Amino acid sequence: MKLMTIACAVFMTVLCSCSADLSTSSPDGIIRVEAALDASGVPSLTVYSGGDRLMTMDSLGLESVEAVMSHGFSVVDVSRDRVDETWTRPWGENKVVRDRHREMSILMTNPEGVTLTLRVRVFDDGLGFRYEYETGCDSLTVTEENTRFCFAEDGISWSIPGNFETYELDTRELPVSGVETANTPFTFRTGGVYGSIHEAALYDYPEMNLYRCDSLEFRTELAPRPDGCKARVAGTFMTPWRTVQLASDAIGLINSSLILNLNEPCAIEDVSWIKPQKYVGVWWGMHLGTHTWTCDSRHGATTESALRHIDFAADNNIEGVLFEGWNKGWDTWGGRQHFDYLEPYPDFDLERIASYAAEKGVSLWMHNETGGSIFEYEAALDSAFEKYQSLGVHVVKTGYAGGMPGNIRHHSQRAVQHYQKVVEAAAAHQIMLDAHEPIKETGTCRTWPNMMTREGARGMEWNAWSAGNTSEYLCTIPFVRLLSGPMDYTPGIFDIYYETASGWPGREEWNGDNSMCYIKTTLARQIANWVILYSPLQMASDLIENYEGHPAFKFFRDFDADCDWSEALAGEPGDYIVVARRAGDRFFLGAGTDGTPRTVALPLDFLEDGVTYMAEIYADDPDAPEVRQPDGTRAPDKTAYRISQRQVTSEDVLDIVMAADGGQAVVFTPEK
Ligand code: NOJ
Ligand code: CA
Repeated sequence: MKLMTIACAVFMTVLCSCSADLSTSSPDGIIRVEAALDASGVPSLTVYSGGDRLMTMDSLGLESVEAVMSHGFSVVDVSRDRVDETWTRPWGENKVVRDRHREMSILMTNPEGVTLTLRVRVFDDGLGFRYEYETGCDSLTVTEENTRFCFAEDGISWSIPGNFETYELDTRELPVSGVETANTPFTFRTGGVYGSIHEAALYDYPEMNLYRCDSLEFRTELAPRPDGCKARVAGTFMTPWRTVQLASDAIGLINSSLILNLNEPCAIEDVSWIKPQKYVGVWWGMHLGTHTWTCDSRHGATTESALRHIDFAADNNIEGVLFEGWNKGWDTWGGRQHFDYLEPYPDFDLERIASYAAEKGVSLWMHNETGGSIFEYEAALDSAFEKYQSLGVHVVKTGYAGGMPGNIRHHSQRAVQHYQKVVEAAAAHQIMLDAHEPIKETGTCRTWPNMMTREGARGMEWNAWSAGNTSEYLCTIPFVRLLSGPMDYTPGIFDIYYETASGWPGREEWNGDNSMCYIKTTLARQIANWVILYSPLQMASDLIENYEGHPAFKFFRDFDADCDWSEALAGEPGDYIVVARRAGDRFFLGAGTDGTPRTVALPLDFLEDGVTYMAEIYADDPDAPEVRQPDGTRAPDKTAYRISQRQVTSEDVLDIVMAADGGQAVVFTPEK
């Protein structure tokens, strides 16, 4: 009888493998995905766009010590689903998101008794697939993920190199065939289509990098654990989604919600305390070297400075103030550090500052640099967050500037677990997070919306102590890093040609030549970056004295970080970008170019029809005088800007005129 059953199951399986339709399409029919099994029972997925083959993902499966997870599969069942729904979020580029996709789940087994469900979702803007395993083992030691991405033809790509410790690397534009290793998002253009490979819902698993293994083929490399294996998981488990966003133009990638749509709905019941904010902080001075985190004669976070920053925020419609260097331990940073997450330095009167902030209606942000000491931080988390909550604090900025203990890689499974642990502990104490040196965003902010923003790329700080970030870089990251989610770039330095001082730990070694330390864009572009580089916690990062009395700071006063709707309107990776956002009934526009001056004729058809708006335009000054730049070259003065006003409607076309390394920012206010 048993034999009969097995024979029957084998027969059914063979029947199913041979006859089942293993393909599905996007709702609009443009993207088609076809699954197949090779002679060894190894699955693959081939992606077509408009009938042309774009890419094949093959060698699909994992390797483990305990179970055979990569081959010998045959199809048992194929199930399908269609979804078309909208969901809302407490914050985001768009607060209302549409999830329209088709799902195909291919259930497979192999003779070793392992069941694999390959779940594929195809949207109009790309696809995601993940592995769902049932092995019968109690636990598994994952030694490899075999997933390969094989491009049908060569093209151009934009990415950072693969790295399991940092994302603070310069972006490169390379032929797909010229990339050795890449982190994700890995953005490309091949066969007339733009795309980006990334992942969604990364929990309890290492991050994925791409290593080229043939001219157009990339294999997956997971961040290893200290013992060399990739992950330890339960016998029944699923991986993060592997995603490929697709669009006919580059801005289509920015306007895609695919990564969010592949995450689970919000896990936090009461989200009323989760609100976007603008902020200023005791921060830039430390990177310039004029102030210190440590408690000495140049200490930045003093009571006097805190009160002055709170007054400034209250007077300028800014919701939050960040203090770095408020707590004991900074003198131990850079090796075996021990930060104290509870005890302020003696010249920082925490209680008085917290009550002054509350009185002024300003949100007090605490900073927790860990230096990478994740075990110490985990042990301190609950008591620290409890204390902050009792002080009325709703935002914590975390930092992991330093190696993690015991050879734990920043992007490995253990680190991913740590970052999530912090998110959940923070949620339990109504705390929003801004993580620096984070794990990359994979849309988990949908499920955990207190995970507001993160760094995870070269931010503003690089300008203070290195040759810094070019305008081309700033035109690239919206199409690469920011596809993964919000970024705390900390834009808005007005003092473009600042003086630097020594004093930053190690700065002389990093940067013997301070002549390259200045902002590589115009001032108007610094303003535009507040709109372009989306973050629900958006910083005006300069010293507040550089904003006091500055006419152009009106933009930030007027700016609303809590937008309802956004759209990237024009742009090409590395060349230029134009983005519009709406918050309430006002619109904000940000545009930026690379080293080439550029004019973009932009139809204002995103504005509400029939409404007249006053457009306040912050532009590069076309008559900027040539001045000597700190590196000795001569170029138009980057601090020169013009503010003008004009009435516009949705019928108008705005000529956005941008200088080299320049930009433009506009506030559109409806006329009553
Ligand atoms: C690096 C972070 O990116 C920066 O914002 C912070 O000021 C320093 N670490 C110190 O924590
Ligand atoms: Ca950093």
